[in-house]
Amino acid sequence: MTALVLNETINKVGLIRINRPEAMNALNADVMAGISAAIDAFEADENIGCIVITGSDKVFAAGADIGAMKDYDYMHAYKTDYITRGWERIKTARKPVIAAVAGYALGGGCEVAMMCDMIFAADNAKFGQPEIRLGTMPGLGGSQRLPRAVSKAKAMDMCLTARMMDAAEAEKAGLVARVYPVDQLLDETLKAAATIASFSLPVVMMVKESVNRAWESSLNESLLFERRLFHSTFALEDQKEGMAAFVEKRKAVFKNR
Ligand code: CAA
Repeated sequence: MTALVLNETINKVGLIRINRPEAMNALNADVMAGISAAIDAFEADENIGCIVITGSDKVFAAGADIGAMKDYDYMHAYKTDYITRGWERIKTARKPVIAAVAGYALGGGCEVAMMCDMIFAADNAKFGQPEIRLGTMPGLGGSQRLPRAVSKAKAMDMCLTARMMDAAEAEKAGLVARVYPVDQLLDETLKAAATIASFSLPVVMMVKESVNRAWESSLNESLLFERRLFHSTFALEDQKEGMAAFVEKRKAVFKNR
């Protein structure tokens, strides 16, 4: 049987591909376990500085597996904590994770993309939270991360009408960081990931932590958090090297410490 999730190491970048084409990359426990295991491995690998999650040219993921969950009752969903256990590993990754989205990113697919630190989209990307059509609602963060990413107005529009947002609108609305023609998406995302991975890993992790703090606390609290992290970079050999290299007009050689 072909693996539902394929992993590859490209120099200092860990690439994760969702690979369930016959079901539009629908997400089930096995797919999510594959993604979680890949992140565990890439996080443990000192050589890896950035992670990319992608699907195919046609679909990133068309949501949680509808066939698998259609007969769940409330008690099953509640007791098994459906969609929590095993589904949120991306959220706890400390290395940056970029979603490279081509084609459909719907329901849980859009939510997995939004769980990543940023989204690069192909020009054929389509984002949506169409759960309302199924008599349910977003359950993996869609109704919470979408308003933070694109405004309450657009999030309401997408979650309540189930309409899809194309790549151009998603970029304009702030959901995606960059848009590329579909045949260039993966190469360009890997290039950006390689750039991130060329920097000092502890600094990369601190920057990620600091930007995420902006989402989760008041401005004064997050400014203080940023200031303290900034101060702590002066304890790094990589800060000495980075600044010395600038002054000496040469390329910095980081040691991730
Ligand atoms: N779960 C399970 N199977 C899915 C699926 C899903 N989310 N999405 C697509 N598939 C399957 C289809 O059932 C079909 O299987 P068969 O060939 O065996 O019939 C196969 O993938 C191909 O799909 P289509 O024939 O529908 O392909 P299409 O090109 O005509 O349409 C699509 C593509 C617009 C993505 C359409 O498949 C679709 O609307 N999918 C469902 C999207 C959706 O509602 N997502 C939300 C799920 S709920 C959720 O995610 C909850 C949450 O918050 C976590």
